[in-house]
Amino acid sequence: MTPPPVPNPRSGDQPICVPCRLAAIGAAVLALAAGFAYTAGWLTPARLSAPRIIDTFEAVAGQHPGYRRNHAKGLCVEGYFDSKGNGAALSHAAVFAPGRTPVSGRFAVPGGNPSAPDTSSPVRSLALQFRLQDGEQWRTGMNSTPVFAVHTPAQFYQQLLAAKPDPATGKPDPAKLKAFYAANPETLPFQRWVKAHPPSSSLANAAYYSINAFLFTDAHGTTRAVRWAVVPDTPYAPVSAAQQAEKNFLAADLDERLQHGPLRWHLLLSVAQPGDPINDATLQWPDDRQRVDAGTLVIERTTSQEDGTCRDINFDPTIVPAGIAPSDDPLLAARSAAYALSYKRRTREEALHPEIHRVQTTGEHS
Ligand code: HEM
Repeated sequence: MTPPPVPNPRSGDQPICVPCRLAAIGAAVLALAAGFAYTAGWLTPARLSAPRIIDTFEAVAGQHPGYRRNHAKGLCVEGYFDSKGNGAALSHAAVFAPGRTPVSGRFAVPGGNPSAPDTSSPVRSLALQFRLQDGEQWRTGMNSTPVFAVHTPAQFYQQLLAAKPDPATGKPDPAKLKAFYAANPETLPFQRWVKAHPPSSSLANAAYYSINAFLFTDAHGTTRAVRWAVVPDTPYAPVSAAQQAEKNFLAADLDERLQHGPLRWHLLLSVAQPGDPINDATLQWPDDRQRVDAGTLVIERTTSQEDGTCRDINFDPTIVPAGIAPSDDPLLAARSAAYALSYKRRTREEALHPEIHRVQTTGEHS
């Protein structure tokens, strides 16, 4: 039975319906919960959400608690960036003023299995966190190819599914991959580039590219689209047959090189011309674009990814200082959401299960 309305002590004559108030509060709570559920992708399992992408990484590569859901195999590095001051012509970010900025980073190999052989992908990656003097940070995740295989997050997801290992062979089904590539001709520049450039023999002699474009604004307020690359001082050499027989040759090689001194790369900023695609990571800009040498990245030492600084860094590429902004490349927003969820899951696993038996993926020889 519905109780009678209670007089409202404030208005004196307007009775308040208590159950109605409770119902209104309940409805507000439900709406909020529905909002969270929608954002998390629970109400729309078919929608391409970060949970759907991360669940798919886990389904493809298996469960590896505490590890990144992609680029799971890697190692931490420490060093600094010596700016020459030239980059200030493009961006007023403090990192481009002359001087030194400390850097923590991570070299890695794409894929969700932290124990995969180094030969499991032709691509290597370098992620960096610049800690600027004014307290800001610049984070970037770069791959060793100047273009990405796909243009949209939906294609990225389809590619993940196509590369899922066949339970019978443990390897991706070549027919599925072929069908994916045939249905997505945007992947051609990437395929051609990989075919023409054998993987490097070392993490130290590869160039690493932002691939996505960003918007740089200078001190006068002029904004230009920019892509960057770190280009090694160490000369390129292709991976050797002996290395290919080693499961973890990349970490062993890097440690060996660093025993003889720091390793260096130049940070080159390339500026788009009107008409250059700034929201399509599958398309390169012509080679003759203005290029500014902003300074030298110096890597001094490695630590393991199980307890080094990089373990607890989310190298979200949309974390940029004032003077740099993300472009409207659709991959950037998807990367930000997926990296955040991967970070959330792996750090939660660390916190809840500090006893996780972690395979040491660095410095170990097969
Ligand atoms: C929609 C597209 C993409 C998705 C969904 C995706 C997803 C991911 C995820 C989940 C991680 C693990 C993040 C973490 O736990 O810290 C990761 C790492 C990484 N990704 Fe992507 N990625 C995408 C595109 C790209 C592109 C275009 C690049 C190249 C510029 C890239 C480069 C990297 C690098 C370098 C890492 C390793 C970062 C590290 O060492 O911690 N990704 N990616």
